This record gives sequence, C-alpha cells and structure tokens, in this order.
Amino acid sequence: MADAETRLYGVIGFPVRHSLSPVMHNAAFKALGINAIYLAFEVPPERLGDAMEGVRALGISGLNVTMPHKGAVIHFLDSLSEDSGEIGSVNTVVNRKGKLEGHTTDGLGARRALERAIELGGRKILIIGAGGAGKAIAYELSKDNEVVVLNRTLEKAKALERFGIMGDALNRENLGKYLEWAEVLINATSVGMNSWETPVPTELLRKDLVVMDIIYKPLKTRLLTEAELRGCKTVDGLWMLVYQGIESFRLWTGFKPDEGLMRGAALEGISE
Ligand code: ATR
Repeated sequence: MADAETRLYGVIGFPVRHSLSPVMHNAAFKALGINAIYLAFEVPPERLGDAMEGVRALGISGLNVTMPHKGAVIHFLDSLSEDSGEIGSVNTVVNRKGKLEGHTTDGLGARRALERAIELGGRKILIIGAGGAGKAIAYELSKDNEVVVLNRTLEKAKALERFGIMGDALNRENLGKYLEWAEVLINATSVGMNSWETPVPTELLRKDLVVMDIIYKPLKTRLLTEAELRGCKTVDGLWMLVYQGIESFRLWTGFKPDEGLMRGAALEGISE
C-alpha cells in the first residue's frame, strides 16, 4: 500500500503505454520489500523540460528514459556518467538529493544478456544496427572485445570509429564477409519487430555463432528461430531488457533484483 513515505519512480517516453518496465520494477520493489512505486509517464517531446522540472519539484527518486527522449533529456540533467556522456544517450536518471544524474544501462544490459551464452573478453562481435541501442551496445562491448558495426546508413556506422569500432555498410556482401570472422552476432536493427522478417539471410548463419536479438516482440524472432534451427546458441531481447532494468534498479536502490523474477514479470506483461 502506498503511504506518505512511498518513493516514486517511473519511465518517460512517447509512446510508453506498452512498456514492460512498470511490471518488472514493481515486482522487484514488492519482492525486496521496498516502499516504492513505478509508473509510466507519456511525455511528448515539447513537454520534456516541464516533465524534468516536475521530477525536481516533486522529488521523484528515479526514472527510466526511453524513445524519443534518450538524447534530449541530457539538457535537463546536472551530471552524466562517463558512458552516457560518450554516447550521448541516457536511459536512467538518479535523483541524488535534488541533483539529477544521467546514466546508460543499455550496454551493460546487453553484456549481461550475452554472458548467459558466452564468456566475453577478446571476442569478435558483429553488431548490425547503429541506432541508439546499437551504439550503446557497441560502445560497451568494445571495451574488451573486437567490434564491427554494420548499418544501413553508412555514416552512423562510421561515426563509431572514434571509439575504435569498425563501421561499414549493412549489405549482403558485408554480412557474408564479417559473419565468417564473427563469433557473436547481435541484431540491433528494428528488422523483425512485430513482423516475420530477418535482417540476415539464413544461409549465412554458422552453427558455432552466438546470436542475440534485442527485439522482444516477438520473443522468438525469425532471426532467432532460424539461428536455432542452424544449431546456434541464442539470446532473446527480453534478457537485455531484464538486465538493463536490473542495472537501473541497482543505481536507484543499491539492491539487485532476481533476474528470474524480473523476467517472469515481463513475460506476464507481454502476454497481457
Ligand atoms: P533503437 O533506439 O531501437 O536503436 P533507432 O535509433 O531508431 O532505434 O535505430 C533503428 C536501427 O534499425 C537503425 O540502425 C536503422 O538503420 P538506419 O540508421 O539506416 O536508419 C535500423 N533499421 C531500421 N529499419 C531498417 C531496415 N529496413 N533495414 C536495415 N536497417 C534498418
């Protein structure tokens, strides 16, 4: 039951009504006995500044930030973690005694998800997609692995070269070339979201490849289905969502919720 001590957390996005974050975080608060509640706030871009003033005025304890605010929210914060400053993206805000700190947990979420299937460090990783998510994942994984990013719009892939990440165009020829080299393939494009499409021709998937998709609708995308048929180890996008959520929760509370609990809550949220 909410009372005068209850702390408030939430996610801001536009749209945000299908977000699984409220069910995941509320399940975690309940399981850990933390007196807090997590809500979804649909904030149009032109009201972002007002919303962040509201966070300060009301003393909201923490936020997740999702599309389309991950970049723009930076203007309304007091400080940034090194990673979020480098990639220009914030998905977590921590209100520390009235000062708003920006962090990004997308990259770490992808790292933890991949670690379910393979030990990282010195791996050859091919990421397709250099949007917000692809960039965050590439930056994090490039700290201790060799990373190549292919993107439909070449300039966005090339922009990652300042982090020592090789960028190239997303086409069949490059997919063939880099998939011969890679040990891990990550789809960070939106191809396959709510559709039966795949960004990678099946015949290019080798059985010793670890394949991760960041899409979780459907949970088993066409890419993951075809990869499994080929004998690849796979990791679905819900694991990344769960682990980025766990990292946000840790930044807010210092506690680490159980991954099975978070995933179970998210799965129930998906099926509703
Ligand atoms: P997110 O925050 O989920 O990463 P985003 O920033 O909109 O979302 O990025 C979407 C990614 O999917 C981009 O890499 C985009 O490629 P472009 O940079 O060329 O736009 C990629 N994408 C979307 N539709 C695609 C398609 N039909 N084929 C290939 N890539 C596609």
